Amino acid sequence: QLTFGTPAPSTTSYKAHTFDQLISHDDAVPPPEGETTFQQRYWFDASFYQPGGPVYLLDGGETDGEGRIPFLEKGILRILSEATGGIGIVFEHRYYGESFPVENLTTDNFRYLTTMQSLQDSAYFAQNVKLPGVQYDVTAPNSPWIYYGGSYAGAKSAFARKLFPDVWWGAIASSAVTKAIVDYWEYHEPIRASGPPECISALINNTNLIDTLLSAGQPLVTSTLKTFFGLPNVTLDEDFVNTLSMPLGSWQARNWDPKVGSTEFFSFCDALTSPSDELAASLNPDEELLLSAFPPFPSDPRKTLASFKAYAAYIQENVASLCPPDEDQNDCFGTDLYEGDGLDDAPWKSWTYQYCTEWGYFQRAAPEGTPSLISQLITLDYTSEICSKAFPPGKLATVPKTPNVTEINQWGGFELEYSRLAFIDGSEDPWIYATPHSPNAANPKRKDTISKPFKVIKGGVHHWDENGLLDGEEPAVIKKVHLEEVGFVMFWLDEWEKKKNGSCCFGSNERI
Ligand SMILES: *[C@@H]1O[C@H](CO)[C@@H](O)[C@H](O)[C@H]1NC(C)=O
Ligand SMILES: *[C@@H]1O[C@H](CO)[C@@H](O)[C@H](O)[C@H]1NC(C)=O
Ligand SMILES: *[C@@H]1O[C@H](CO)[C@@H](O)[C@H](O)[C@H]1NC(C)=O
Ligand SMILES: *[C@@H]1O[C@H](CO)[C@@H](O)[C@H](O)[C@H]1NC(C)=O
Repeated sequence: QLTFGTPAPSTTSYKAHTFDQLISHDDAVPPPEGETTFQQRYWFDASFYQPGGPVYLLDGGETDGEGRIPFLEKGILRILSEATGGIGIVFEHRYYGESFPVENLTTDNFRYLTTMQSLQDSAYFAQNVKLPGVQYDVTAPNSPWIYYGGSYAGAKSAFARKLFPDVWWGAIASSAVTKAIVDYWEYHEPIRASGPPECISALINNTNLIDTLLSAGQPLVTSTLKTFFGLPNVTLDEDFVNTLSMPLGSWQARNWDPKVGSTEFFSFCDALTSPSDELAASLNPDEELLLSAFPPFPSDPRKTLASFKAYAAYIQENVASLCPPDEDQNDCFGTDLYEGDGLDDAPWKSWTYQYCTEWGYFQRAAPEGTPSLISQLITLDYTSEICSKAFPPGKLATVPKTPNVTEINQWGGFELEYSRLAFIDGSEDPWIYATPHSPNAANPKRKDTISKPFKVIKGGVHHWDENGLLDGEEPAVIKKVHLEEVGFVMFWLDEWEKKKNGSCCFGSNERI
């Protein structure tokens, strides 16, 4: 499957280390006969360390940990370590990158992949790691360990603080999706609310138009439509409209640092809202045919057609073109086959297993009455069918019909809170509806205190506090949140000192 707008991982001078991790922390799921541990990768920087200082663990989440190294070089780990004499560590998640407790990825071999197992990995690591070249014992709970994660790893950061409070002195949960949700149609709501209004309106209109054309069920109209978008050989209508939704992924890929993020969303919008005159002018025979199938136009058929043509041209040039010419478009954009049990299948398969079993987040068209940025053909059944197709039942593990989100939500969901646990979100994040800042939470406007920081980066998208710049060139909102993070972490570390001296600390310090 192709991805759209994902930055490539950076390479680096930090050396990868490995830790002997337990294959299973759960007696009910024992490791294979004669095996107990696997090699879990991590990277660290102790150059700012002062004896007695904190250790910051950044959870690599559902990707190759190597891609997280910039956060050690110049992002949140560097910022916090430098300010507090700490050590920064990037910790790769089991089943990602090169950290595998198994030799292949059959359904059975995913039996050690649960959020709980991976939370226990972090705790066991913090309690046992011996950092090469560091002469001090920096393990928890003798040193203050602070968890950091963004997105899924952000949720893990929050859960870690709540479930292992004796290991984690504090935690920062950035864009933390603490609420697992099967039907996550709200993904597109922040885009609809905050995207350029003219573009969003054009997209909604084009999407409606395409749905109307497809629902006519006339083979000639359907095939003309697909050809028009450069996707003539995509067989299923669902796969076709799903491909049209790919540019929406570039909203989430935005970042305040243009070197980290993508500006593709705005190129997409420019294309949609300022079609060239040439596009608007003449109609070729295919367009005549489409036009004849269009529903009666509202006010301005020329404008509607121009925007439609511009959308088609954009998809043709920027999405359809991602499929190499010698490859069947169904192999690039289709969804009927998910094959591969090798470890090199992890980039698509491991997170899929996790959301199919525990997390959900299937996206679909907005419900009746809410304008939709994606086609009505994109249903929950369609977006979740990967679960049965990719994971035939095994003997030791099976993927349930519907993910058991209770596995996650038993830990608090939207309402999760704890002392020395910070939530940082972005007001334009498509994941905000799964965080404690969700409009669906009981209280999305909790008090922001130094023990329980609760902050929104205005105009921010997905974990915008995680990356940083060394030259002081961060925009004001990012500088501000980084300063605030240093501030509350220093306060937490003061509490650590006080506790050591026997005069601390819970509950007494609820001030801003
Ligand atoms: C996968 O690995 C297991 C051992 O963990 C082995 O028994 C099995 O044959 C392997 N299957 C494939 C398809 O490679
Ligand atoms: C979308 O359709 C609505 C209703 O017909 C219309 O008012 C609006 O101007 C259209 N938007 C664009 C960008 O053409
Ligand atoms: C579609 O399939 C036809 C017939 O196999 C092939 O000639 C054509 O190049 C394909 N088009 C695209 C855009 O893949
Ligand atoms: C779902 O997970 C919860 C929490 O672990 C568990 O109690 C429950 O039995 C699970 N439900 C199913 C259907 O497996």
